[in-house]
Amino acid sequence: MINFKEKIAESISKVTNISKEELENYIEKPKDNRMGDFALPCFKLAKEMKKPPMQIANEIKEEIEVPTEYIKNIEVVNGFLNIFINNETLIQNLLDEMENKKEEYGSSNIGNGKNIIVEYSSPNIAKPFHIGHFRNTVIGRALYNMYKFLGYNTIGINHLGDWGTQFGKLIEGYKRFGAEYNLEENPIDELTKIYVRINALCKEDESVLEACRDNFKKLEDGDEYCTEIWKKFKELSLKEFQRIYDILDVHFDYNTGESFYIDKMPEVVDILRKNNKLVESEGAEIVDLEYKNMSPLMVVKSNGSTTYAARDLAAILYRARTYDFDKCIYVVGSEQNLHFEQLFEVAKYLDLDEKYVNGLIHVTYGMVRLKTGKMSTREGTMIKVEDLLKEAVSRAKVIIEGKNPNLEDKDDVAKKVGIGAVIFNDLANNIIKDEVFDWDIMLNFQGETGPYIQYMYVRTKSVMEKANYTPNKDMVDLNELEENAEELVKKLYEFEDTIKQATEKNEPSIISRYLIDIAKLYGNFYNDNKIMVDDEKVRNTRLYLTYMVGNVLKIGTGLLGIKMPNKM
Ligand code: ARG
Repeated sequence: MINFKEKIAESISKVTNISKEELENYIEKPKDNRMGDFALPCFKLAKEMKKPPMQIANEIKEEIEVPTEYIKNIEVVNGFLNIFINNETLIQNLLDEMENKKEEYGSSNIGNGKNIIVEYSSPNIAKPFHIGHFRNTVIGRALYNMYKFLGYNTIGINHLGDWGTQFGKLIEGYKRFGAEYNLEENPIDELTKIYVRINALCKEDESVLEACRDNFKKLEDGDEYCTEIWKKFKELSLKEFQRIYDILDVHFDYNTGESFYIDKMPEVVDILRKNNKLVESEGAEIVDLEYKNMSPLMVVKSNGSTTYAARDLAAILYRARTYDFDKCIYVVGSEQNLHFEQLFEVAKYLDLDEKYVNGLIHVTYGMVRLKTGKMSTREGTMIKVEDLLKEAVSRAKVIIEGKNPNLEDKDDVAKKVGIGAVIFNDLANNIIKDEVFDWDIMLNFQGETGPYIQYMYVRTKSVMEKANYTPNKDMVDLNELEENAEELVKKLYEFEDTIKQATEKNEPSIISRYLIDIAKLYGNFYNDNKIMVDDEKVRNTRLYLTYMVGNVLKIGTGLLGIKMPNKM
């Protein structure tokens, strides 16, 4: 699509001798669009041009003969150059792009040739898939889709927590009282009980704790019996996680968990040792990070067992070599902020090209709160993710039943609406903010919600269906769009740019906000304008606008992982 900012910078550059790139940095978008589509604060040029801002602004205005292909008009206000773009060019370009790209509208190839790893979900074997993992999964999937849509070669990895000392404990617990629990039926609940019980025993009896540590050591050394039990835990847990992934329709390119790096850790230790970075501390081997005011990173435990961090370091080495990544994005909650700061610091000592070290990115996010406060296992306010998703669907079903009892495929629609509502709620605001979980808010069809966007989409569908309409841009009247739908049209134009911004910031909520804006603008347009008017040109224009809105809503929600019903 045409980059108007760049085009404007180009025109101004010609008459000022200031570089296009520099001007692009200065040109901003005024908050109030009556002040123009773009503005150049001329005081930024005053020093370089040795003239007062007002004079610069006036001179530029004089020199550029409007209208040009890209600029309709220029106004000077208080040393600001307010620039109005040529809407006709914009609309024409929008229509062309929409027709050429169709359901790929908004995509781009800026990512071609670049490799992006998105690591997300990463639950722990034998432990509950908790609401934090849900949040993580939804954010990670959205980022994955966004990068892919911009042409990046994107690699999605589920870094399962399938290794670590807890398995020593679980194995011990399983040995002692596994027979009392029905693992097949409810693996994670049952394993959690075993875990709690063995932990209690460890506190009472030091020798049990010793046995647990010993089990993990054995597991690391490839002991047959321990490995077999571990495999069983893993299979059973994965089956349970898969149920949630199926509901959310989430996929990964690789399910390479921590255990994948077992044979890759010795090299990490060797490199760090060679670089004199490993220090002994009470029998353990650590990397001192005092100089960064951070606690040390433990690489090898005192009994020789490996650590979570060592596996992460091995993963960095492996991923750099295997995927030659430009970015390796870790979607992980804020409780691990320190771990990633330490990890990225120590990654500097792995003899890797700087490109890889600089490409490591921790995308952190806030926690999920009930409207009554924090979820807590102890207080019994922890919600099981699977139950929560099922509840979302059944609540959506009740609402749909009430609104449209004769709807076909009610179950399918309820699934799309219920799950869509939860996903949208998760991505509606900056991800660093805590997510508040409130059914009434997220399922409100009139609120800034997933169902609201779906509702608007369904409206576009029904408008087109009633009109028996096949999109045809050649029947569109540019004037009608400019006069009656300028704001909406410009918003539609911004889609690609919005996805780029959201990707640069790793912030899917930029897309969520955008979709709400589109839905609202279309809602207003629909209320103010009859679509099925007699005038054929106007009718076709309004229908095409409707088509564009529906298309963008569908693509945008698709990026977020939300499915659209055709009716609701
Ligand atoms: N399994 C961990 C957890 O549930 C998250 C893993 C994060 N990724 C990583 N590379 N350390 O807390």
